[in-house]
Amino acid sequence: MNLPQPDKSSAAVRAMFDDIAPTYDLLNGLLSANQDALWRYRAAKRLCVRKGERVLDLCCGTGDLTREIARQAPGSEVMGADFSSQMLDIARRKDASHQYMEADALALPFGDGEFNAVSVAFGVRNFEDTGRGLREIARVLKPGGRLLVLEFMRPTNPALGRFFGVFNAALAPLGRVISKHSTAYNYLPQSVGGFYSKGEFAQLLGKQGFRDVRSFDHSFGIASSFLARKGQFF
Ligand SMILES: C[S@@+](CC[C@H](N)C(=O)[O-])C[C@H]1O[C@@H](n2cnc3c(N)ncnc32)[C@H](O)[C@@H]1O
Repeated sequence: MNLPQPDKSSAAVRAMFDDIAPTYDLLNGLLSANQDALWRYRAAKRLCVRKGERVLDLCCGTGDLTREIARQAPGSEVMGADFSSQMLDIARRKDASHQYMEADALALPFGDGEFNAVSVAFGVRNFEDTGRGLREIARVLKPGGRLLVLEFMRPTNPALGRFFGVFNAALAPLGRVISKHSTAYNYLPQSVGGFYSKGEFAQLLGKQGFRDVRSFDHSFGIASSFLARKGQFF
């Protein structure tokens, strides 16, 4: 996919998600044919959160993964964080029982080793600096703590590449009409095209001090999940 690269500065990304927040959930369901809920359910299962554990759901958006992890792990403490205040407002309205805070993933307001696990669904692709974001996540994880990343990776399989091409041509206009945002739904395929492939991202995780990196596909590879551990001596 040779698409123009979008502006991934933190200010631009935050403004974009603030703008599309009111229609974000509706479009997620429509554009993924409701598969997104299943992807989050399966990803949360693999994270295997236990009672008493502290979990940070980073780039939580409207909180769907935050709530799914908490639902699957009663007795755990799951906190959502995001830098879009409009996305967080919706998360709080959907469920006031969770703690949500405004925070930038590239400069997290937490001490070292505070969390047993960190999850990021469809967030890391938006980071202005992916390596820095992963290092911040590693910093707030306990040694041995788990990371779950659910993301659209740059396809290396030509059939999947064609799928994203069709998505761009046919579905992005739908996003444009419903969200009333002129570029947000071009941003998705553009940012996927400029992001890492699965193999490259697994290598990057290793470089940033993560171990036991495993990945699995959702819906024939349209989305992928990565699980990794922070190394003991990181
Ligand atoms: C595509 S949405 C995903 C939301 C949610 N995790 C989900 O599964 O629907 C990406 C979210 O990441 C947030 N985000 C992107 N970059 C961020 C950063 N550097 N710090 C905090 N949040 C960020 C955006 O504000 C947005 O809410």
